[in-house]
This record gives sequence, C-alpha cells and structure tokens, in this order.
Amino acid sequence: MLDNILEVNNLCKYFGGVKAVEKISLKVSKNSIQTIIGPNGAGKSTTLNLLSGTYFPTLGNILYKGKDVTHLELHERVPLGMARTFQKIRLFKQLSVLDNVIAGFHIHHKIPFWQYILPAGAYKKNRLDCQDEALSLLDFVGLADKAEERAGSLPYGSQRLLEIARALATRPEVFMLDEPAAGLNDVEVQFLMSRLKNLQNKDMTIILVEHNMKLVMNVADEIFVMDHGEYLFDGKPAAVQSNPKVIAAYLGSSGTEI
Ligand SMILES: Nc1ncnc2c1ncn2[C@@H]1O[C@H](COP(=O)(O)OP(=O)(O)OP(=O)(O)O)[C@@H](O)[C@H]1O
Ligand SMILES: [Mg+2]
Repeated sequence: MLDNILEVNNLCKYFGGVKAVEKISLKVSKNSIQTIIGPNGAGKSTTLNLLSGTYFPTLGNILYKGKDVTHLELHERVPLGMARTFQKIRLFKQLSVLDNVIAGFHIHHKIPFWQYILPAGAYKKNRLDCQDEALSLLDFVGLADKAEERAGSLPYGSQRLLEIARALATRPEVFMLDEPAAGLNDVEVQFLMSRLKNLQNKDMTIILVEHNMKLVMNVADEIFVMDHGEYLFDGKPAAVQSNPKVIAAYLGSSGTEI
C-alpha cells in the first residue's frame, strides 16, 4: 500500500501575470489530516482547486494513489474518491436539507442530475434508496432534525455543515475542505473538530485549508505553510507555531494571528 495517497510535484498556476501558485510540491500521507495555511492571498484555495480538479495547473502534476490525475476534472476525480467543499458555500438553497445530501449520492447512481432538481422517475426510487444513508450523514453533522427544512433557511454555520454532509455522500477517501470554520462560532468549531477527527478514525485522509488556528493546531498532523503562492515551511504544529518565517509572514499580514 502507498504511504502517500496524494503527491503533487512542482505545481504552478498562473492567472495572466499573477503567480497564484508557484512550484508547490507536497506529499499527503494516507489517513492523515494535512492542513494548508498562510496569509490571505497566499494561494491556499488555488492549491485546493488544483488538487481537486477545479482548476488545471499551468505546470506540474498530481498523483492520486500513484495515478496521474493532473488532467482529470473535478467530476472525474469524485468517483475515484476525491471530494471537496468550497470557501464560498455552494448549496441548492431552494431544496430541502435532505435533498441536498441526496444530490451528493448521484455519482453512485446512474440517474440524470436534472432529476434532482425536477424530481422524476429514477430519482423517486433513488430518493428512497438513499434516504437512510442521507439521514445518517445529517445525523453525523448534527442536522438530522432539520432534514425537511429549506437549505437556504439554515443559519450560516449549519449550511457549512450541510456542505460537508453532501460532500461525504460521494464517499470520499480524500476529503478537501476550504475554510470550513469560517463564520462558525466556538461551539460549532469544536463540533467540526470532533467530526474531522471522527472521519480520520474512519480511514479518511483530510486536506484542510483553514485560517482558524485553534482548529488547525488541534487537528493537524502536518501543516504546509504558503506565502505569496510559494512554499514557506512545513512540519508538525509545534514546529510551525514557533517558526520565525511563519510568524513573520503572519505578522506582515493584516488581522490574522497564529
Ligand atoms: N480566478 C482567478 N483569477 C485571477 N486571479 C486569481 C484567481 N484566483 C485566485 N487569484 C489570485 O491568486 C492569488 C491567490 O489566491 P487564493 O484565493 O488562492 O488565496 P488564498 O490563500 O486562498 O486566500 P484567502 O485566505 O483570502 O482565501 C491571489 O492573488 C488571488 O487574487
Ligand atoms: Mg482561499
């Protein structure tokens, strides 16, 4: 078995003249919680977008379980066991909480995606098939009692948790999250922490982009620090926290403390 479930080499992403990501190489151990941190604009989301197939890199390659997935799109990586959430919440706000999770199952059932929006035929059967599993995912994120509510009516923190449940419906092996703690209160962050640890205990590998240092320091096995699109430092939480380069990068940025 491969120790590194994901390996990226020399990843670069340029937007015109902007070097959003420059020469990033990273190995993610199977079953670890790998976090990526850095000041605003450091290139964290762009890196996650490259890892997940949301963007293609300008240069470099991405190996998942030893297979080159560099040129596979997001929807082609999901069936291989990769899933993600977005920095800006993306839910079907008019659909119920339950239907949002059921929509996440669609990759495992060969029914047309539009049937989730306009329920018909295969969808109706599928909804019944998936309902129990969807409810147990909602239970996992503490939203089982909100199943029939409209997703858009949930408070912000609950919408973030719902996004996690929906992504989990794709049954990922590598789960990537972009700032899941943004906008969450302390109790919700604590809960998120327990969920991430729980997923790790279920054999999942987690790649977490996050500004909330309490969360990062509590869950991270490894921390990869970026600044200005480039590698700055990597190591265990204690080493990162006391590293002068990391401290300087954060002090130089506005408003974020490490
Ligand atoms: N689609 C895009 N087009 C042009 N420039 C972009 C695009 N996406 C990101 N960038 C630029 O790339 C750089 C890195 O952005 P990115 O969003 O990856 O940073 P980040 O570390 O996630 O920041 P934050 O902590 O604020 O979320 C920034 O200068 C940003 O303006
Ligand atoms: Mg970002």
